[in-house]
Amino acid sequence: MKIVKLNAIDSTNSYLKELVRQTNVDNGTVVIADFQTNGKGQNKNKWVSDSGKNLTFSVLVRFDSLKVEGQFYLNYVVSIALYNVLKDYISEKLTVKWPNDIMSGNQKICGILIESTIKKSNVKNAIIGVGLNVNQDIFPVEVVKATSLKKVLNTFIDKEKLFDKILIEIQYQLIAIKKQEFKKIKNQYEAILYKMGIPSMFVDGNESRFLGKIIGTSLTGNLQVELENETIREFGVKEIRFA
Ligand code: BTN
Repeated sequence: MKIVKLNAIDSTNSYLKELVRQTNVDNGTVVIADFQTNGKGQNKNKWVSDSGKNLTFSVLVRFDSLKVEGQFYLNYVVSIALYNVLKDYISEKLTVKWPNDIMSGNQKICGILIESTIKKSNVKNAIIGVGLNVNQDIFPVEVVKATSLKKVLNTFIDKEKLFDKILIEIQYQLIAIKKQEFKKIKNQYEAILYKMGIPSMFVDGNESRFLGKIIGTSLTGNLQVELENETIREFGVKEIRFA
């Protein structure tokens, strides 16, 4: 596995994307940076992370036969991989908030941004971007619900060791996609889902608040929420958030 280490870059996802466009990049190539000047988050948000304290990296994965409709399974396996590694550090309260935020209690400890290239309804390749808060103590006031491993555990964490473990686990979990073990992936993912079965307040795409409980995910990767009247509503990524 080729690992490119950079001091600073705009975004490891953007850098790797450009590299793939310009040259012949090996499957599994990783780009890691101490600092990103323009780190990207989901929904066009920024990903801000103190220099040298955290893990911000991207992995290139090529696929032969992953259908666009099954792309969400890639989000699931990467979430499961991060969950499995972090579980050895934080034994309690670790969950995955749909679709792919890793949570310690009600605070986000890790974000994942997957950007893929599609060709003829297949995922040709994907850039898996991971931002994991490791040794950062203080977060900007606007990022209220963020935490780091160090904050949770009250101890300094060896970033390099953690990084190695994550890369191994991501590669391992990706085998389930290659083997098309989608049912197994879905079951594993749902078993670690944030607020699963717990009555919670949500906001839908029309900004209406409602009470419901997450009961699982659909075969298209939507979130399934049971309402007070026991009907089930399904939501896509931008159609629901916690109130
Ligand atoms: C999120 O919004 O939760 C996703 C955050 C993803 C951040 C990582 S940091 C490494 C990689 N490069 C980026 O620009 N973003 C991802």
